[in-house]
Amino acid sequence: TVRTAIIAGNWKMNLGPQQASRFVAEILPELGKIVQQHSHIMSILCPPAISLAAVHQVMQSVPTPGVELGAQNMYFEDKGAFTGEIAPGMVKELCSAVILGHSERRGYFHETDELVNKKVHAALHYDLLPIVCIGENTDQYESGETQAVIKAQVEQSLAGLNEEQAGKIVIAYEPIWAIGTGKAASATEAGHVIHLIRHIYAEIYGDTAAQAIRILYGGSVTSANIGEFIAHPDIDGGLIGGASIKSDFVEIVRKSA
Ligand code: G3H
Repeated sequence: TVRTAIIAGNWKMNLGPQQASRFVAEILPELGKIVQQHSHIMSILCPPAISLAAVHQVMQSVPTPGVELGAQNMYFEDKGAFTGEIAPGMVKELCSAVILGHSERRGYFHETDELVNKKVHAALHYDLLPIVCIGENTDQYESGETQAVIKAQVEQSLAGLNEEQAGKIVIAYEPIWAIGTGKAASATEAGHVIHLIRHIYAEIYGDTAAQAIRILYGGSVTSANIGEFIAHPDIDGGLIGGASIKSDFVEIVRKSA
């Protein structure tokens, strides 16, 4: 199976509308060139919600197929009295993708697998590509619980998909101990867990869906180590945090192409 690789940039709480437009205008010409020359790779930029419109505008003025816009989070309800939240339909007006259940959402904002699952269904309903994050924390890693944690997260965050939906999602495996620490997992280690994720997914939704979904690695990825991850047959790309708001992001995409 040939799966299009994805390099997604999660800007987290960095770059407001003004800085975001400037940064995107800076990287877009080169980024666009790389993905246009290499049809087996795409890139998704995920700025903070308040910067989406500004980035969207820049992207409209420099059309670059293969570079897409994503949100970092959204709520699952269609509309209503949910102060501070963003509805799927609103995200869809500007974006084609949405990160869901990032470990920072789960940790700081108490998002559960059950909530993430509702968001996944809402995203699919609105034809948004859900990038669903899973991963074990340091304690779980050290006590050898990684497999069990991953299994529960896959089963619960991705419950109840129909056959068509099951082949469409993207999973980002991000061991929490590797996020923002400069201590990336090795490609072998990450590839092993990702292999396992695909296996767990196949048991729920069958081989066809499991072979179709993209599974990314995230956690201290830079242009210096992306090569190892992308070379691993089980790893379909990366979810980049810190390096996604620097010109290094373009280098990461270049080295993945
Ligand atoms: O979503 C991105 C990840 O949390 C990775 O962040 O590249 O800064 O380690 P990082």
